[in-house]
Formats: sequence, C-alpha cells, structure tokens
Amino acid sequence: MQNLMVTGGAGFIGSNFTRYMLEKYPNYHVVVYDKLTYAGNLDNLKDVAENFPGRYAFVKGDICDADTVRETIHAHDVDTIVNFAAETHVDRSIMNPDAFIQTDVYGTYVLLEAARELELERYHQISTDEVYGHVPEGASRETDPVAPRSPYAASKTSGDLMVNAYHVTYDLPVTITRGANNIGPYQYPEKVVPLFVTNALDDVPLPLYGDGLQMRDYQYVVDHCEAIDLVLHKGQIGETYNVGTGSEMCNIDMTHLVLELLGKPESLIQPVRDRLGHDRRYSLDVRKICRLGWEPVHSCAEAIEKTVRWYVDNEWWWRPIKSGEHYQAYYKQQYEGREIE
Ligand code: NAD
Ligand code: DAU
Repeated sequence: MQNLMVTGGAGFIGSNFTRYMLEKYPNYHVVVYDKLTYAGNLDNLKDVAENFPGRYAFVKGDICDADTVRETIHAHDVDTIVNFAAETHVDRSIMNPDAFIQTDVYGTYVLLEAARELELERYHQISTDEVYGHVPEGASRETDPVAPRSPYAASKTSGDLMVNAYHVTYDLPVTITRGANNIGPYQYPEKVVPLFVTNALDDVPLPLYGDGLQMRDYQYVVDHCEAIDLVLHKGQIGETYNVGTGSEMCNIDMTHLVLELLGKPESLIQPVRDRLGHDRRYSLDVRKICRLGWEPVHSCAEAIEKTVRWYVDNEWWWRPIKSGEHYQAYYKQQYEGREIE
C-alpha cells in the first residue's frame, strides 16, 4: 500500500487525512479525487500542495463517473481507495435527498466496481455512527443491526451494505470505519460546532434545535485519522470498526462551552424548531478498535477547545465561505422564520 486515492479528499476529514498520511509516510503518494461540491475546497489542501509537490496530486472528478475513476486509478497507479466522498449534512438530506442517494449509494458502487475490476489491494469505506440509528441507552457494537432514520443515514447505510456485499460476493478486500461527530480544522460551517463558533464570533444568534438535550460524541478529527490509518494497516479484511471517544456531551452543554471559551453571552442562544426525525443520541462501543491498538487522545471538551482556537485563528478560511452566495442562500432557507420564543 503506497498509492492512495482519497475520494472526497478536498472536504473536511479527507483533507485532514491526506495531510496526516503524507506527513507520516514519506514513501506514500496520495491522489485526491473530488467533485468540489459546495463542501469541497482546495483551500483545505493549500499547505499540502505546497509541502508535498511530488507526492500529492489533485483530480477533479465525480465518484459516479466510472470512466474518470478508472483513468485516475491507472494514471496514478492506485493500489488503495479510501472513500470519504459523500453528501454529509443531515439537514440538507432532509431538504433534498437526491444527491445523497447518487453519491453515497451509487458512487460507492462505482468505486467498488473499479476496485474489483482493477484488483486493488484495499477498498476502505468511511462510514458513520448514524447507521445504527437513535440509541436511547448503551452503546452500538459493530455487530448491532443497522437502523438508519434520516435520508443521509439511510444512504450511508446502503453504501456500507454494498461494501460488505462486494466482500462476500467477490472477495474484495474491504474494511469499514464508522466514526462519531468529527470536529476540527476545515469543517464547513454548516455543521453545528463551526457554525456556532463562527456565529458567536460575529455576535449572530446560535440556532439550537429543540430542547438542546441531544447527545453527540464530538471527536477530534486527527484522532479519527489515526484510527483509519491503523485499520488500513492492521485491520482485518471484511471487518467494521467503530471510532469515537466513547464519551458524549449534550448540545446545550457544547453550546455553553463554546460561548464560555469565546467570552460571549448566553443571550446569543436562540432556540429554534427541531430537526425532523432528530436522533437524540448516538453512542459507539469502541472496544474493537482499541484492541487493535488505538485510543482517543482528545476528550469531547478538549476537541471543542482546539476547534474553537482554530476558527479564531483562521478567519481567512471561513469568512469567504460564510459571505458566499451559496452559504447565504442555504442559511436563509434553513433558518429563516424558525425561531421559537
Ligand atoms: P465534507 O462534506 O466536508 O466533504 C465531502 C467531500 O466529498 C467534499 O470535498 C465534496 O466535494 C466531496 N464529494 C461530494 N460528492 C462527491 C462526488 N460525487 N464525487 C467526488 N467527490 C464528492 O464531509 P466530511 O465531514 O469530511 O465527511 C467525510 C466522510 O466521513 C463522509 O463519508 C461522511 O459520511 C463521513 N463521516 C463524517 C463525520 C463527520 O462528523 N463529519 C462523521 C462520521 C463519518
Ligand atoms: O454522527 C456522525 C455524523 O455527524 C456524520 O455522519 C455527519 O456527516 C455529520 O454531519 C454529523 O451529523 P449530525 O447531524 O450529528 O451533525 P450536526 O453538526 O448537523 O448536528 C449536531 C447536533 O447539533 C445535532 O443534534 C443537531 C444539532 N444542531 C445542528 C445544527 C446544524 C443544532 O442544534 N443547530 C444547528 O444549527
């Protein structure tokens, strides 16, 4: 394994993973293959392009486009696909599921077919804790049945099922990791933590859904990258591994912490109408990946603290996104008239 194709590598986790792998393995090459949707951003990889000129390449392409996928695999002598490419925001999947089904289901199939025909060494799928659905108590194990509840979660689950089917049917060497809520550098400010941090910095209200008692496991993105690296090198073929901190925090506590770290008043919290079908809690049992030799470095609170600091220090990155036409239109559609007093 030396030549990785990182699909969706211009997004949040994929760009962090690309940087992490190139820094850690001096003999690895990475080709980032990305459609550059609203969430893809070459600014996420600016330093990577500068620091690893001979070992990093970028190809603009859609994972649903079988010809360009194959051409890229040939041109870069790819032996491993790590698939981050997806539509990823639950609220957008509620507004319009179409692109989710295209990319997260059909796109996954296109990559699997290419991996099978071209006999790649490994196909790794980046999945999510949302495939297990809402977890009122306890923690989800990899053997638990899937029970997705949003169009996003259903699309990701379908991708996972196809990955497993390719392993069973064609003996394709696959692995899957299912991550909790990632936070850290370069996360598009539609996701709650960067949204709240950047709104608070501008004294704009923080739209908190429902009662704010939903629980999430906020994990630092680099911890997730370490886990993916470990599974790529030591994971068992055909297996799935959960990746999370194993701790959790409710949204209202996360919001208070963000405001406290920024020295902003609680009056910025604006309760708004809840998300449709909102999953109140996810929780992952991470003992399987810990047995492989991984452990989370950052707690939820530490991850939030580091993330807040990054957004404070990197206005150059998020200000152009937030002032852009696409973001403004999305924000209006998603939040206008949603306040509850
Ligand atoms: P993101 O939205 O920041 O980035 C997604 C990237 O995929 C973008 O660069 C986008 O341009 C690209 N993309 C979208 N459709 C494409 C297509 N058809 N062809 C090629 N590229 C395409 O996402 P993220 O938060 O970095 O998530 C990456 C992966 O991790 C996803 O598969 C997601 O389901 C999974 N995941 C995310 C989290 C999280 O908390 N963010 C947690 C667990 C799992
Ligand atoms: O759990 C892993 C998943 O985490 C990933 O698979 C998804 O790609 C990623 O988007 C994320 O999904 P969530 O729906 O959990 O993340 P989001 O940041 O959208 O919301 C986190 C919590 O915050 C959730 O309970 C909803 C709430 N929220 C969200 C937004 C955007 C608010 O209260 N207000 C908001 O404006």
